[in-house]
Amino acid sequence: MIKKGELYYPDTAAKKRAWLKSKSVYALAEKNPVKFWESVAKELVWRKKWTKAYAGTPPHIKWFVGAKLNITENCLDRNLVTRKNKVAIIWEPDDSNQAARTITYYQLYREVNKFANALKKLGVKKGDRVGIYLPMIPEVVIAMLACARIGAVHSVVFSAFSSQALQVRLQDAGAKVLVTVDGYYRRGKITDLKKQADEGLEGTAVERVVVVKRAGNQIPWTQARDVWYEDIVRGESDECAAAVMDAEDPMFILYTSGSTGKPKGALHTCGGYMVSAYASDKWIFDLTDDDIFWSTADIGWVTGHTYSCYGPLLNGTTFIQFEGSPDYPNPDRWAGVIDKYGVTVFYTAPTAIRMFMKNGTDILKPYTMKTLEVLGSVGEPISEKAWNWYFKEVGKGRCPILDTWWQTETGGIIATSLPGIGPFKPAHTGLALPGIRIRVVDEAGKLCKPGQEGSVVLFPPFCPSLLRGVWQNEQKFTDTYWSQYKNKYYFSGDLGYKDKNGLLRVVGRADDMIKVAGHRLTTGELESAACKAPQVAECAVVGVVDEIKGEVPVAFVVPKSQTDVAGMKENVVAAIRSTIGPIATPHEVFVVTDLPKTRSGKIMRRILRKVFTKEELGDLSTLANPESVESIKNTVNPA
Ligand code: PRX
Repeated sequence: MIKKGELYYPDTAAKKRAWLKSKSVYALAEKNPVKFWESVAKELVWRKKWTKAYAGTPPHIKWFVGAKLNITENCLDRNLVTRKNKVAIIWEPDDSNQAARTITYYQLYREVNKFANALKKLGVKKGDRVGIYLPMIPEVVIAMLACARIGAVHSVVFSAFSSQALQVRLQDAGAKVLVTVDGYYRRGKITDLKKQADEGLEGTAVERVVVVKRAGNQIPWTQARDVWYEDIVRGESDECAAAVMDAEDPMFILYTSGSTGKPKGALHTCGGYMVSAYASDKWIFDLTDDDIFWSTADIGWVTGHTYSCYGPLLNGTTFIQFEGSPDYPNPDRWAGVIDKYGVTVFYTAPTAIRMFMKNGTDILKPYTMKTLEVLGSVGEPISEKAWNWYFKEVGKGRCPILDTWWQTETGGIIATSLPGIGPFKPAHTGLALPGIRIRVVDEAGKLCKPGQEGSVVLFPPFCPSLLRGVWQNEQKFTDTYWSQYKNKYYFSGDLGYKDKNGLLRVVGRADDMIKVAGHRLTTGELESAACKAPQVAECAVVGVVDEIKGEVPVAFVVPKSQTDVAGMKENVVAAIRSTIGPIATPHEVFVVTDLPKTRSGKIMRRILRKVFTKEELGDLSTLANPESVESIKNTVNPA
């Protein structure tokens, strides 16, 4: 990279590998974004071309109107022509002593078709929802693609979510079939996922459960309902005609945390999602046939969907699917994986980078990581310190750092400076992708000046992969994303600013979303989970800064009875873990007599956070119960 003042620009080597090299692409795309997206869409295979590329009135927009396609024909069939025996997936197990697996494009094609045929026999039809509760094993990709092959709508549930979290999602989606696993390995231990899945099935419409064999653990079995994956695919044909999908047919639902405890099902559709996943992965990571791409995100999150499944397959790339944790069995495991496979593009989260940084550079001495060419970051703001460390110690000053900004709702990356163009600035995500109009506006919708913080919004035509709805909840869809600016702009909920160079920096959220080790949660959903503990009368959760995880939740709970508080903290932790999962475990739980409130009864979470971090509290005179603060202070920091 070449440094000019505070900015970095690509050098000749970075430019050489880039698809987009000239900044003129931005002006071209800005002139007519729809035409620009059309031109990239033409690189893919469609059964029928669109009659109009963009239509509708926000919030109800359409891309590639009238077009017909099947994403799996682009992920699989198309690659058989020139990449039949190329490795699609390199699967690296949790236990480094176990054998890795590789799956070629042809093998993947056959497995997907077999499972697609088997799903049909189980009664799955176009438009039906299929729940997928699987860890990072190749079958999760196979299951997603098999659904897409027959036009079923998949809804992947993160395998570390609890059975209750699974249940709410399956119920909301109305899933008919669930695909799960007997058990899986995480840091050397087996998680009994089938047992958890069974608990989550109660009260759902799931009729059949397909179980993949991975850990070989003993599992509960319901004869009339459960089938082994290997039994139902055995003997199936490895050809399955791809369902012809309309560009705006639902493709998948991915649940993301909602403020009240009920998750929102972000709905993505076939055509727009395919185009964004393809183009973003190609332009941002500059994928070519020589690349080994490793995105560390779990498939249960949107990053996993787009960059550990669809994006690389649409580009015919070889990608790594890692079952384990980057620091298990040793803190250098991630660097070992990079060297073992010659990873060229590495995409991870700031929480992982902070952990690598904390482990020090000595452990990296045995590794060259010389194959790396592009580095990415996603999920939360990356600090200058972490950016610089990543740039120097991992990228050796050679690789561009792509701080990619996007959301479950946008389906694919929509902002980051491009590796062949730049510029890059520590802690800044940079420029919107060509063809995407990201603006920072004030409450009235007026554009903010450079350096002025405001709401990060999208102007029309938004992006092809923007969510088309919240599954079965139109009200939530309009309230959450569109009402703020009267359906004119898409409201991301993020706060940020553009610097004098026009580079975007996202600084945080306008709502109660927190990011715990990169995982998206809301303090609201933690509060409603905590309130399930029998002794809790009231609860407030705040996110506080954590050196490694970015943020961690801290809970303040008021008991129903001051004399019945035994075991209350443990009960609150248990309620949160069983409602959401271990990732939501509060860092601390404080039992307090009252919560600070305004006269209108609003809980002042800001004050709670400051009490915890021992910051200056400021004016408390607007509180209805200022005395509560003194008492909370004593509980949090006892003398
Ligand atoms: O607040 C932003 C933050 O993560 C949110 C989206 O989370 P999720 O839907 O789980 O998707 C994560 C993967 C895209 C955003 O609203 N966020 C994501 N990337 C960044 C970020 N904040 C700052 N910088 C980023 N690069």
